[in-house]
Amino acid sequence: MPLIRQDVYDRIVSIRRLLHRHPELSNQEIQTSAAIADFLRSLGVQCRTNVAGTGIVADIPGAAGVPCVVLRADIDALPIHEETGLEFSSAYDGVMHACGHDGHTAMVLGAAALLSEEKDLPAPVRLIFQPAEEKGTGARAMIHAGVLDGAGMIFGGHLDRHYHPGAIVVSEGAVNASSDNFTIEIVGQGAHGARPHESIDAVVVGSLMIMALQTIVSREVDPARPSVVSVGQFQAGTAPNVIAGQAKLSGTVRAQDAIVRRQLLSSIRRIAESIGQLHGAKMQVSVKEGTPPLINLPDMADLARHAAIEAVGETNVLPLKTANMGAEDFSYYLEQVPGAYVRFGGQVPGKEGFPAHSSKFDFDETALGVGAAYFLAVAKIAGRRLRDQQNGSSPSTSLP
Ligand code: NI
Repeated sequence: MPLIRQDVYDRIVSIRRLLHRHPELSNQEIQTSAAIADFLRSLGVQCRTNVAGTGIVADIPGAAGVPCVVLRADIDALPIHEETGLEFSSAYDGVMHACGHDGHTAMVLGAAALLSEEKDLPAPVRLIFQPAEEKGTGARAMIHAGVLDGAGMIFGGHLDRHYHPGAIVVSEGAVNASSDNFTIEIVGQGAHGARPHESIDAVVVGSLMIMALQTIVSREVDPARPSVVSVGQFQAGTAPNVIAGQAKLSGTVRAQDAIVRRQLLSSIRRIAESIGQLHGAKMQVSVKEGTPPLINLPDMADLARHAAIEAVGETNVLPLKTANMGAEDFSYYLEQVPGAYVRFGGQVPGKEGFPAHSSKFDFDETALGVGAAYFLAVAKIAGRRLRDQQNGSSPSTSLP
């Protein structure tokens, strides 16, 4: 049984399938955006299109003078060739909704359908449909376009195959990690493969560097604070009998708090400099900063938990099982306004082994009703809190 009215549930399943069949990459979500706008207009909800490129913003009116509650969905797909065999599989070669953003969009549209029928909402509700989450750039672009102007709180969520359909996962603290990329360019001295004494071997220096980077997490960072340093690329050399004079390493760094994040990046620089000196090679480290960690503050996690309980009942509201080192650009919104990010169980029996970003990723569609019910509940509970704050009464009285 869906948790929301059957007709709304049926509509969001069908738009999810439509979006799934027509996935579009980051910043190219043109048909996606048009389908979302059509859906909103059919509800009588006015929306602004072409926000930050292909984004959409819609406002549902509520009590005057109260800051709005923002519900956010991401809308982009990935450059992956779908292999699920679903009847509504991607119609496009090499593009797939492999992270469930089609589902997130359908959930927020479901909430829109239910909220648009409500009279006297305690606060206005703003729906934002954000492009380019997979690039980590969409949230910032939307913020620059002003989507948080007049916002009091913001809520979002992600499908998760680790939890049963019907579950909502709410935790306080870090629920996604920061994500920064680094590149190390090594300049040594090329030489004949038979004359190593005439070289500064960039492959050997690079190899030492890769091994030394492994000691940052294992020997320098508090083991109780999760972090990752991974080298994903190592490029060097032109021929078997030529010692490479140059090499390039690049990788990613993940952390759940700002202090460890800085520590990881400064250790990479220190180790690179030292290994360069050890072998007389020049080391150039550059860092491309990505998304900050996503942190649910305790009182916002508490508010989200109340909404989750209202949607699915206490036994289906779970804490995060393990630290999650993936990144999510929702963290940029939380740097600006309070809010929380949850996860929606979407496990399909027999498909637990196909994670998000895999060609066989799938989720249980009953999660769409769960998400819509959650977003409806959180919009009302957060709205009451904002209204009470506006009226100067104690916020604690607004929780059920
Ligand atoms: Ni995602």
